Amino acid sequence: MSQPRQLKLGFILHGVGPGWGDWRHRDAQPSASTDFQFYKRQAQVAEAGKFDFLFVADSVYITEKSSPHYLNRFEPLTILSALAGATSNIGLVGTLTVSYSEPFNVARQFSSLDHISGGRAGWNVVTSWLEGSAANYSREKHYAHDVRYRLAGEYLDVVQGLWDSWEDDALTFDKAGGEFFDPAKLHALNHKGEFFSVKGPLNISRSPQGQPVIFQAGASEDGKAFAAKRADAIFVSHEDLDAAQAYYKDIKARAAAFGRDPDQLQVLPAARPVVGKTAEEAEALYKELTELVSLGNALSMLARPFNEYDFSQHDPDGPFPLEAAEFGANSNQSAVNRIVAAVKEDSLTLRETALRFATPRGHFVGAPEAVADSLQAWFEGRAADGFVLFESLPGQLEAFVELVVPILQARGVYRTDYEGTTFRENLGLDFPVNRYAGALAAAE
Ligand SMILES: Cc1cc2nc3c(=O)[nH]c(=O)nc-3n(C[C@H](O)[C@H](O)[C@H](O)COP(=O)(O)O)c2cc1C
Repeated sequence: MSQPRQLKLGFILHGVGPGWGDWRHRDAQPSASTDFQFYKRQAQVAEAGKFDFLFVADSVYITEKSSPHYLNRFEPLTILSALAGATSNIGLVGTLTVSYSEPFNVARQFSSLDHISGGRAGWNVVTSWLEGSAANYSREKHYAHDVRYRLAGEYLDVVQGLWDSWEDDALTFDKAGGEFFDPAKLHALNHKGEFFSVKGPLNISRSPQGQPVIFQAGASEDGKAFAAKRADAIFVSHEDLDAAQAYYKDIKARAAAFGRDPDQLQVLPAARPVVGKTAEEAEALYKELTELVSLGNALSMLARPFNEYDFSQHDPDGPFPLEAAEFGANSNQSAVNRIVAAVKEDSLTLRETALRFATPRGHFVGAPEAVADSLQAWFEGRAADGFVLFESLPGQLEAFVELVVPILQARGVYRTDYEGTTFRENLGLDFPVNRYAGALAAAE
């Protein structure tokens, strides 16, 4: 009998927090983003709450205006490898950019993490939207948006090809016969394409999940096409339930059009719950959150998807300067489009825009029952297969695990224990058959 559909949950390990003012909260630990003990504690709380995965986001460019967590943080695979030893069931997902790395290295790194963790690795494949990144990688220019996605497709072909270098049972370890591996089960890739030329094979055996889980967060047309075709799970950011439902329907239909089973693609909107013991307490906490953000901070935050456009040159109480949109065209297109649409719909001033997007209220502020109701409504209303949660204020992960998780469990929409030993099994994803073994089986 197949399992009833269950809500999936991920937790973004964000150290001191994604905002500019988070570090100033009375309970914040300003050094959290480079404190292993902090990460370990959060990872263990999320695992006690039976979360599907931890996620470490990343980018490769900062300026003096970047937020504290961006200024000073761990490289994802390094911290995830350390966390593999401090946890036993939870998935370990990290961002690595295809625009500034080599597929052979990346295939090795994620395969290693999958081995180290016993089958819990996931890769968030990003193309990077911060144009300044080029200057850190000996390049004059950032790739154009369409080139980035073309490159990402070929990059993933190479990495997934390398992950199949060894068939699952290729290492025979036959001491008596003197055969370490079966040469018929080792395959070179011999890839030659527009961007990459990679011979292979990879120098590490097939990992416990067969292949690590692929995440994608592209929201532009190119991004959605890439995600629908290639991803096992998608991160997305939504303003409201209607938009989320329309997106969900669209992306699942796109996956089906690529010949995929839409259930093998998990849609996971980002959410930032603010949970209080009562509705009043939650409102007070949300107010605390908004008070951490100054106008200067909010303007710096707004500048990021607009390729660090200097909004401070404009009157904050004047209309939002729509000419800034062109600065974001080769950066984070979808965030820019979302902000510009809201500005036009609600005739926002620059100040209103900055403050709204610095501390979006979202749909998950309230007492535990109310937060559980909203999460369940999104899940059952086919707006989401689950969520990737940000911690809004210090202590909110614990509050969620202690107060909301038991409600979701009692309602039967969320697991009370892990279903399998690998991340893929817990997410309900099929084991990817090795292409060479699969081809042989098909020919027989
Ligand atoms: C929940 C979530 C997490 C993301 N994490 C990262 C990240 O770690 N690094 C990154 O460069 N971009 C990240 N992004 C941004 C996307 O990769 C992508 O660049 C963005 O959604 C714009 O889409 P586009 O590239 O198709 O224009 C994230 C987006 C979402 C919604």
